[in-house]
Amino acid sequence: MIIVKSADEIRRMRESGRVAARVRDAVARLVTPGITTRELDAEAARLMAGMGARSAFLGYKGYPGYTCISIDCEVVHGIPGDRRIEIGQIVSIDVGVIYGGFVGDTATTVMVGVSRPDVISLVATTERALGAGIAKAVAGGRLSDISHAIEQTAVGGGFAVVRNFVGHGVGRKMHEDPQIPNYGPAGCGPRLKVGMTLAIEPMVNLGVSEVDVQEDGWTVLTADRKPSAHFEHTVAIGAEGPVVLTLAD
Ligand code: MF3
Ligand code: CO
Ligand code: CO
Repeated sequence: MIIVKSADEIRRMRESGRVAARVRDAVARLVTPGITTRELDAEAARLMAGMGARSAFLGYKGYPGYTCISIDCEVVHGIPGDRRIEIGQIVSIDVGVIYGGFVGDTATTVMVGVSRPDVISLVATTERALGAGIAKAVAGGRLSDISHAIEQTAVGGGFAVVRNFVGHGVGRKMHEDPQIPNYGPAGCGPRLKVGMTLAIEPMVNLGVSEVDVQEDGWTVLTADRKPSAHFEHTVAIGAEGPVVLTLAD
């Protein structure tokens, strides 16, 4: 069952989205050669506490971090640790906060200095795929219009979408109905209504779409160990079109 939020609830989700976005952007700016992912996570924790927010990830099914930080062939759910950022990597920062009773969930992928042209294209295409999906988050449309637009953009760029992990509804809980695959035909699934709130999150791979989960039980890796990019926004379906809730200001 898809939970439709009231205008007041959407206003509160905008506040949680703003907090998540501020943390995302602040941590993304700290991604520089030599810093460890644990240091990045600690900064996220400090910023969340400073804004009166909690991590939506910490303790979720036993997850041990405040954020997920996924490098190169790591697709999502990388656990912060002793690993140091290196020049040439791409780094996904996924931030989820609980603030005022609502979750904001958002991710970005940053390049560390110079990347190969195909990797630059992967990151840019994944961000464009998120935009194409958001553009289909309109009342009267169908859920799979979002999925289809993402897939078209990613495949059109010469890349493969991850099929084992999906976007999702978001609200008082991080993961609500519906699931939002990043692939599929247009025109299927539930009709979109004003007040639905969705975490749209393309995960796009340079090589094959298949993924493995590492022995830590969390880190998702591309099967061919080629790079993967991930972008995510929490979006409300508004009367006048999509409203991105995870913007920093
Ligand atoms: N933020 C992820 C998502 O976009 C979920 C993280 S799982 C957790 O859905 F365990 F790290 F919390
Ligand atoms: Co997320
Ligand atoms: Co999400």
